[in-house]
Amino acid sequence: MPSFTASAPGKIILFGEHAVVYHRPAIAVPVPDVHARAIVNPDPRGSPGKVHIQAPDIQLDQFLSNLPEDQPIAKAVWTLLKFLNLDQPPACTLRVTSTIPLAAGMGSGAAVSIAILRAFSAFLGHPLADEQVSMLAFEVEKIHHGTPSGIDNTVIAYAMPVFFQRRQNESPLIETFQVKAPFRLVIGDTGIPSRTADVVGEVRRAYQSDTHHYESLFDAVGARVLQARQAIESGDSRLLGHLMDENHELLCQIGVSSSELDRLVKAARSAGALGAKLSGAGRGGNMISLVTPENEEGVVQALLSNGASRVIRTTIGKQL
Ligand code: PMV
Repeated sequence: MPSFTASAPGKIILFGEHAVVYHRPAIAVPVPDVHARAIVNPDPRGSPGKVHIQAPDIQLDQFLSNLPEDQPIAKAVWTLLKFLNLDQPPACTLRVTSTIPLAAGMGSGAAVSIAILRAFSAFLGHPLADEQVSMLAFEVEKIHHGTPSGIDNTVIAYAMPVFFQRRQNESPLIETFQVKAPFRLVIGDTGIPSRTADVVGEVRRAYQSDTHHYESLFDAVGARVLQARQAIESGDSRLLGHLMDENHELLCQIGVSSSELDRLVKAARSAGALGAKLSGAGRGGNMISLVTPENEEGVVQALLSNGASRVIRTTIGKQL
């Protein structure tokens, strides 16, 4: 039996985080410059059902049967085995690695799940379609997110820009769309870990105590998301930058920014970025800035000298 490898990109949310939990649209894009990888190697001498899991990034070296079922890697494997109606996979070693920053809004959890689901299903002789991979990864996402919107697993499974909207009593609206003119983003990491489930929970409490106000903030975000999609489809980067600034302001009002994120956003704008905003759950994690070839280097330097622990440059809209 040969070995099987799969990888999955990171992602960032361009527009609409938090409001997306409340059924407004959002736009997310893959970031192929970072990725998770899973390799399954058969172990012809091992006894059936013995799955050895190695994830050096999180110092994990353990048999599947010894891990709690809600450990995210174990959960991805169990979710797949259940889906395929298998309880005893052939003995093997599953090795998982990732270059995606953890707890930083770049979809590391979903990317790890998706790489595992792809490599393991191929190893078992049942390769999955993107839609199935996304659906199973969503089950695993519930551990990380509490009430995930489903945007991470979707954008990573399809590896394309995605316009996403949850709907009442229906599966989410998912549209992949074209980027007219590829654009450059510089992503700045605050280096501060942020648990999405915690921030989503805080927003939920604030929403419950002031529903009317939060509904109007989410509406305002949703309107920007629709305009942003048009700006991307028509290649209007000035408008796109302006909408990023406005979305950031709304996220501040929603209460999910922080002084570190605001500082990086300001630094990027002062260095000439066309727009900048936090991306993902907020509090810590990453911010994104829209740059031009003329100001990209200056923005990178401004982010690094204003506290960014890491900077990732990426092009949105090039064919993967
Ligand atoms: O921090 P991230 O990238 O995992 O994004 C969270 C995005 C939220 O809208 C805050 C939550 C969600 O499930 O969509």
